[in-house]
Amino acid sequence: MTDKLSPSDWSKYVAARRATALVQDGMRIGLGTGSTAAWFVRVLGDRIRDENLRVKCVPTSTRTRELAAKVGIATISLDEARWLDLTIDGADEFDPELNLIKGGGGALLQEKIVATASDEMVVITDATKEAVTLGAFPLPCEVIPFGWRTTQALIEETLISMEVMGRSSALRMSGETPFVTDEGNFIIDLHLNRIGNARQLAMVLNQMPGVVENGLFVDICDLVIIGNPDGRVELRDIKEGTITEEQISVGDEVNIFSDLN
Ligand code: 5RP
Repeated sequence: MTDKLSPSDWSKYVAARRATALVQDGMRIGLGTGSTAAWFVRVLGDRIRDENLRVKCVPTSTRTRELAAKVGIATISLDEARWLDLTIDGADEFDPELNLIKGGGGALLQEKIVATASDEMVVITDATKEAVTLGAFPLPCEVIPFGWRTTQALIEETLISMEVMGRSSALRMSGETPFVTDEGNFIIDLHLNRIGNARQLAMVLNQMPGVVENGLFVDICDLVIIGNPDGRVELRDIKEGTITEEQISVGDEVNIFSDLN
């Protein structure tokens, strides 16, 4: 099975492997959503089984809750956990300050709530998500279905006075119908190309009626772990101001890949 993994999957997998080393017995952990976060869930499931770890996990989507159950991770709600020690998630883009665009998988609302409720948020990724300035990836904006066209028009008008290089937007679709989030909302993807002031934009968007949350994660992420197909990982720690490199040994993967078949 392992020989069928793409270089991108190997990168995500080694980043996830490094991230599980941050998990300690007794921790409350937020589980992100997306293909990279899914690797973390699989690897964590393996560790929990092998080491009999007693961790409490809060998923950020129905998808992640279902995968966690599949790999034997018991989950609880955020209300039960109240506060978390650590959240591990993927991202669509990260910049040198470790600000993020998230929500490509449509789970940005729960992801932001869970990450904000964590002592530490760690992003696992491959090198393709790195950006000098955020904005090449369309910024997801979760909106209430009621009057979404009006909300979209209001967003586009507001973008005129923002530091962005584009302001077209599109309702995210799932086939012929609008994509619906776990909270029953819609997502409008904003094609901004370049976001000059992410902090300002995040605040302005969230002040609009109809907007529930946007995918800009500013000052939330503490550490980014960038995986490479050859097992190298780079750790960028924003608080420590450090960049370190490590090598993850691969080759003992047996259980982790079983659910991929
Ligand atoms: C889901 C997200 C994901 O973390 C983001 O889209 C990255 O996904 P992937 O790991 O599949 O590239 O924000 O809402």
